[in-house]
Amino acid sequence: MKILFLGDVVGSVGRLMINTHLKELIEKNQIDIVIVNGENSAHGKGITSRIYNGFMENKIDVITMGNHTFSKGELLMSIDSMDALVRPINMEPVHKGQNHKILNINGKTLCVTNICGQIFMDKTCENPFDSMDNLLDQVKADMYFVDFHGEATSEKIVFANHYSDRCVGIVGTHTHVQTADERIINKCGFISDAGMCGAYDSVLGRDTKEVTDLMVHCLRTKYTVAVGEGVLSGVVIEVDTDKCAATSIKRIQIRPY
Ligand SMILES: [Fe+2]
Ligand SMILES: [Fe+2]
Repeated sequence: MKILFLGDVVGSVGRLMINTHLKELIEKNQIDIVIVNGENSAHGKGITSRIYNGFMENKIDVITMGNHTFSKGELLMSIDSMDALVRPINMEPVHKGQNHKILNINGKTLCVTNICGQIFMDKTCENPFDSMDNLLDQVKADMYFVDFHGEATSEKIVFANHYSDRCVGIVGTHTHVQTADERIINKCGFISDAGMCGAYDSVLGRDTKEVTDLMVHCLRTKYTVAVGEGVLSGVVIEVDTDKCAATSIKRIQIRPY
């Protein structure tokens, strides 16, 4: 089984990169399951029904989220009907939406979940290790995959080592910068951050001039989403479903230069 995971989709440029490249990526890499982080897909913050439906037309199996899950208020009304959307297990309001999704592949079950980190994060979340322990107790599956949405590489690496015998994939998101530390730890394909799908010439998907004005000149900014040529970032994890273990992890990046 091959899982394609794509990091945070930021605004219209990120969505265009998905629309343009996903079909070919699936065919070229013989992908079985596609998981995409959509927490920034609606103009940089959150997701809407319209954008969710667009992802579904691209045959994405699971949309994971992050600290911006509920940035668009309308999601509170629609999230419970979004069968493919998985929100962080440890972020309020915990009763809205689903915190995991079970997929069936090669006669085995894969549980896909989404967990927020605590270190350097602006929203207070339950301890991610307690959340994962609870999930493992309550949701039985042959394999587990975690989108770990956090700022600190240390927290992601500790999490990956701690659950490397239970998970076939633990992939970091949120920083929007792809790291070069992909590797197999025990049975698990791991990378600290998958990177983003968004405007390449930007600051994490936001307009460079605006963020520069804020940081250098302390000017107010709207954090406009950047436009221009796009980057698409993620990983492909190959899993031996007989052994319920990852055998390889490969970085994917499509960028203009
Ligand atoms: Fe993000
Ligand atoms: Fe985030």
